[in-house]
Amino acid sequence: MSVALGRERPDAGALEELSALAISAGYDVIERIQARRERPDAGLFVGVGKAEEIGARMKEVGAAVAIFSQELSPVQQRNLGRLWECPVFDRTELILDIFARRARSHEGKLQVELARLEHLSARLVRGWTHLERQRGGIGVRGGPGETQLELDRRMLGVRVRRLREQLEQLRRQRRTRKRARDRRPAFSISLVGYTNAGKSTLFNALTGAQTLAADQLFATLDTLTRRLQWAPGVHLVISDTVGFVRKLPHQLVEAFTATLEETADADLLIHVADSSAADRDEQIEAVNHVLREIAADSVPQLLVYNKIDASGRVPGASPHPCGSIVEVAVSALTGAGLSDLRQLIMAHHKSWLDRAAGRQSVTETRPH
Ligand code: GTP
Repeated sequence: MSVALGRERPDAGALEELSALAISAGYDVIERIQARRERPDAGLFVGVGKAEEIGARMKEVGAAVAIFSQELSPVQQRNLGRLWECPVFDRTELILDIFARRARSHEGKLQVELARLEHLSARLVRGWTHLERQRGGIGVRGGPGETQLELDRRMLGVRVRRLREQLEQLRRQRRTRKRARDRRPAFSISLVGYTNAGKSTLFNALTGAQTLAADQLFATLDTLTRRLQWAPGVHLVISDTVGFVRKLPHQLVEAFTATLEETADADLLIHVADSSAADRDEQIEAVNHVLREIAADSVPQLLVYNKIDASGRVPGASPHPCGSIVEVAVSALTGAGLSDLRQLIMAHHKSWLDRAAGRQSVTETRPH
């Protein structure tokens, strides 16, 4: 369910995406509700009347879970859960849930756990503030609830610190591996894109690998890397990365910074977009937003309009209005346009080699 607040226009795209996320998490979506409200109600997010109306509708259709596209406070979540007698989640929790199911590598699992704990501790802090206010109001000091909350927070804090240490160690190992790789320099390419845009399918088409390509959001969570030699002297390292979504919960961006850092380090970004998506441009902007957040927006980018077999777009390359970016339309599924994409990658590889040779000759001619 999605609630347009104040002057916001009802966002059908947000509700559509929430449904896709819920399906990815294994739920059947049986009802979509769009509501409107001036400002969120402190206790129920929606108004009392609306909450009752939704509760009745949920009983009618037999809904077992309610999911909101907006973030709920712990109090709203608890009150709605009691009123509707069912679990109530928000979008962040839904995404965290999907990530928890999909993480495969040790690092991926640690990152997701960190994100979940960060989310939980933020809510504990907020729950705490609320209780403190209540306590002040009725003039009672101390109490068993307070001690339990403090204990929970401390335990969470210890676990978060340990996870951060473990992740830092993995990050150091990754840097060592990268230094070893840098001794055998290869042109590194990162595939980025909105979830379900077809990154894994394109990765498979470019590398001949058999990565999981599934019609679900966030099928790929862990960065997958292949080293290739396309032609004599053309060594490439291609990585498939986690898919992005609009308003990616910031705990996730933070937890995945280490893996996303590799994206910022790449020599070329292949930004895969689903040309058949109704909100294609918003998806492209959401990806660019995350790229700016992880300081990867200065890496050269090829904007790949994928799934042209479904959108009817003509295959091939064309310049993007924004100068440094080149667009290319392909179908990773049928192979249309892929030869243009390969040629563009080769051209970027060549200028990378030229730049490296330039740097080398500068070093060679520099007086000692
Ligand atoms: P995440 O792991 O969620 O980030 O997804 P992804 O971007 O890796 O997408 P993936 O390759 O898993 O593809 C998602 C769905 O789109 C799958 O059902 C693919 O078969 C389908 N798909 C990928 N490329 C094309 C294409 O060129 N045309 C069509 N019609 N479908 C495609």
